[in-house]
Amino acid sequence: MPKVTAQGKTFECEQGANLRQVLLKNGIDLYNGGAKALNCRGIGTCGTCAVFIEGEVSEPNWRDKMRRSLPPHEPTRNLRLACQTQVLGDVKVTKFDGFWGQGYKTVWTPEG
Ligand code: FES
Repeated sequence: MPKVTAQGKTFECEQGANLRQVLLKNGIDLYNGGAKALNCRGIGTCGTCAVFIEGEVSEPNWRDKMRRSLPPHEPTRNLRLACQTQVLGDVKVTKFDGFWGQGYKTVWTPEG
């Protein structure tokens, strides 16, 4: 089973599992501040579940690409929407600051 490492924890999930659900189930702070309550619950429209991912995941789908092409996200940035991403192998996840996770300062890294 793939291993996911985020915010200092490592846990296993099913191959193909939805990254948002895996992170939330394991108590990871996927959302910054008010986005914890104000998010689209995984339908790919709010853009607040953006993370940086190292490792094997699904290709970005059209919702992921479309939402990340709109401000405050930048289409050229190598982030992904966790709610639109399937885990295919071991991955490490990093969260950046800002309501949408669009900032350049890390909030947490794979290590903690
Ligand atoms: S939870 Fe809203 S875009 Fe992912």
